[in-house]
Amino acid sequence: MAELAPRKVVVTAGPTRERIDPVRYLSNDSSGLMGFEIARAAAERGDKVILIAGPVHQETPDGVTRIDVESARDMLQAVKRAFLGSESRTKGSFGKTGADALFMAAAVGDWRPKRQLSGKWRAKDGGDEVASLELVRNPDILATVGRRKGNRLVVGFALETGSGLQRAKAKLTRKGADFIVLNDETALGAKRTTVAILAKGGVSSRLQNRTKREVARTLVRLDHTDSLK
Ligand code: CTP
Repeated sequence: MAELAPRKVVVTAGPTRERIDPVRYLSNDSSGLMGFEIARAAAERGDKVILIAGPVHQETPDGVTRIDVESARDMLQAVKRAFLGSESRTKGSFGKTGADALFMAAAVGDWRPKRQLSGKWRAKDGGDEVASLELVRNPDILATVGRRKGNRLVVGFALETGSGLQRAKAKLTRKGADFIVLNDETALGAKRTTVAILAKGGVSSRLQNRTKREVARTLVRLDHTDSLK
């Protein structure tokens, strides 16, 4: 793989959190480790890095600018600003031209409650035994920015149980990514993982039982030439 010049890189990490009421939410078990390791590996190779993180307990790697977000919609705004570009050059923005690469490692919640209650949701004494929560679809961040990426590098992630190669390939096209990194279910919360890296051109490579730090070092060296293979 070719050596790359320093780039402006955006990484997302961790779960998103969708509020039901002031003290309850929908979320998932993502630890954020993969995204934090990618941010660390990119900074170590000299890239400028904005890390957009959902609620996680991870230390910010040296040299990385971290933006904390909660919901998928907050994350979408932060990704648009950092990756696609924004007029203001404040924290979380590379300015008008945006970034060169996006690693979308966050486990974004697909659904959010249709209504967010301003007070606590109370189960009334002697009330119903069954309740339901109406959900609406969250925006697909990867697909939204993938459509507008031009010739920037976009790497998406997928978690599949069993052999999810076909599904991951479909995701690659649907979301406009250059690569999809396919994790198996053992990756959740673990230090080590086995991944398949699928390129838009059809080639896939496999990293077996590696630490997430090792996987991250490989991922930050990917470039467009590799994606076309
Ligand atoms: N993603 C996103 N916005 C969403 C959902 C997912 O940007 N609303 C991104 C994730 O960050 C990841 C990729 O899309 O890069 C994962 O796609 P997804 O369809 O959620 O795949 P899985 O996690 O494998 O889950 P599913 O079972 O829904 O296919």
